[in-house]
Amino acid sequence: MTSKRNILVTSALPYANGPIHLGHLVEYIQTDIWARFQRLRDNSCYYVCADDAHGTPIMLRARQDGITPEELIAATQKEHEADFADFLIDFDNYYSTHSDENRDFASSIYLKLREQGHIRTQTIKQAYDPEAEMFLPDRFIKGTCPKCGADDQYGDNCEVCGATYDPTELKNPVSAVSGATPIEKDSEQYFFKLSDFTEMLQQWLKAGHVQSEVANKLDEWFEEGLKDWDISRNAPYWGFEIPDAPGKYFYVWMDAPMGYMASFKNLCDKQNINFDDYWAADSKNELYHFIGKDIARFHTLFWPAVLDGAGYRKPTAVFCHGFLTVNGQKMSKSRGTFIKARTYLDNLNPEYLRYYYTAKLSSGVDDIDLNLEDFMQRVNSDLVGKVVNIASRCAGFITKKFDNQLSAELPEPELYNDIVAAGEQIAEHYENREYNKAVREIMAQADKANVYIDENKPWVLIKEEGREDEVQKICTQGLNMFRLLMTYLKPILPATAEKSEAFLNTEFKWSNISQPLLSHEINKFKPLLTRIEKEQIEAMTHDSIENAASTENMPAAEEKITGPLADDPIADEISFDDFAKIDLRIARIVKAEHVEGADKLLQLTLDLDGQTRNVFAGIKSAYKPEDLEGKLTVMVANLAPRKMRFGLSEGMVLAAGPGGKDLFILNPDEGAAAGMKVK
Ligand code: 2FM
Ligand code: ZN
Repeated sequence: MTSKRNILVTSALPYANGPIHLGHLVEYIQTDIWARFQRLRDNSCYYVCADDAHGTPIMLRARQDGITPEELIAATQKEHEADFADFLIDFDNYYSTHSDENRDFASSIYLKLREQGHIRTQTIKQAYDPEAEMFLPDRFIKGTCPKCGADDQYGDNCEVCGATYDPTELKNPVSAVSGATPIEKDSEQYFFKLSDFTEMLQQWLKAGHVQSEVANKLDEWFEEGLKDWDISRNAPYWGFEIPDAPGKYFYVWMDAPMGYMASFKNLCDKQNINFDDYWAADSKNELYHFIGKDIARFHTLFWPAVLDGAGYRKPTAVFCHGFLTVNGQKMSKSRGTFIKARTYLDNLNPEYLRYYYTAKLSSGVDDIDLNLEDFMQRVNSDLVGKVVNIASRCAGFITKKFDNQLSAELPEPELYNDIVAAGEQIAEHYENREYNKAVREIMAQADKANVYIDENKPWVLIKEEGREDEVQKICTQGLNMFRLLMTYLKPILPATAEKSEAFLNTEFKWSNISQPLLSHEINKFKPLLTRIEKEQIEAMTHDSIENAASTENMPAAEEKITGPLADDPIADEISFDDFAKIDLRIARIVKAEHVEGADKLLQLTLDLDGQTRNVFAGIKSAYKPEDLEGKLTVMVANLAPRKMRFGLSEGMVLAAGPGGKDLFILNPDEGAAAGMKVK
């Protein structure tokens, strides 16, 4: 037997100024299931989290509500904890980034980074609200989009045309705090020199600590060159003051991930766990962060660099998941698909959602869709129709006819052993976060169990003279198969598993599945799960529409997280007019060269209808430069030139394929003539 693993897992810390909604829950459910699975396999697994309690939005929200930030974060934390508990999220500790432990980590880590020369200061210009007397985060400046002219857009991006820009480009800018016109003001800021860690991060990312799709996307940032990171904000700000820098505070994203350590430290102090065993640079224990793809940059660049610079270990892995859509679209307040955790709980059983998300989740960063109709059907047919049904079909006979006693042997031990054997594959799927595959496998086993009962028909046999023993055995076989299925489902359905344990009078453990329950007394069966009724879903949608009408639209975060991964959730549709703007043309590659210092890029000189274009393309993994010369490629000819670390890129070439060696461009004999415009 392999020795027990020591694991610490975290989920991202929710902001302390808003409710938990079904989008958040994808991650907490995903992490909770993984942690419960590890414990079920007899590993040690701590799961910690906290509220992310700092930043301008929280300061302003408290001001608006006429309470102190401390009061706001205490009230929100209470709500969050209740929501999580009711969704059966089993944290070992839930804490706050506004804690003494976190203050200590923020200053000690900062001081270590400073000592090592990783902090520098620089005077920069920022938007300032002269009336509210404060510097403004980009999200708190509103105005007219410089690209499409839409009014009332945030200072960092336009929700109408999707453009991203600098707040100084916004037309008619006003402060969302006071309505005053912002001015530009100089101030000295503290920067973390992320560029010091370029090589370390490249090595770390290559070593498999992040999913391949994340590593590929991060390369885009490396190609542009890592920029130093402004970790300070000016007073008034709600956060921790920076040591030796009066009036300067740590930016919320600096101390937020330290909240993982702070929450764990708080747990260690309560339970006498050795903190260093998990966080020292030479720690052998495992550390995993589950996050959404929108915050990959913070967790896979800044955070490992900060940890490394301050002498701590880096995460064993960062696991990114995709976003949630509801009925195929972004959650929408007006459609009633922006569903708060509490609204869901007021109408439906949390285990239904835990099951549905599990059935959809894979280890990738793809978005998952909660289709409410499919949700209802899937839960009703899988959980109620297949799994619970096995127990309800067998339990009554054992109770009424056999005084709650299971038989002394199984009539079909091979079938039982088959389902035991499937456990290894199921465990592997859980371990690899391929939950959709685990569920598929479990349901395939449930189908086998149902076929067995259908074929053996205990309800018919019981009416035949002298066949009572057979009925007892068939039902014992059925209940034992149910026990296996519920053991496999225990990480997903902890409450139903607990009720089933009470019913079968045993604890479900992965380590003893090979031993069937024989000559064993069970308890009276009580209904385990009921069907979802359409009215429940309708009531939840209705409640969500009503709730939405009463919530105001203050930015929940200081910055909208943008970046390659966050920007490619299932495609936001573009109109035909948008598509028609793209000038796709066939160009001839006249020269291809290596780019010094670039891992993925080749520098291409393209001939486009007699014009020459310089383009940097990430296709080095697939082609040697000399093999490209003379080939044709489709290029986006009207893409605005982009300044890269290695020079100006004047367009983009299109290659297709899974990546790595397989990225294909056109061969000259494949038809298209140079200069042809693709329609
Ligand atoms: O994006 C968010 O909701 C952040 N509050 C997540 C923080 S995760 C960690 F770094 F603290
Ligand atoms: Zn716009």
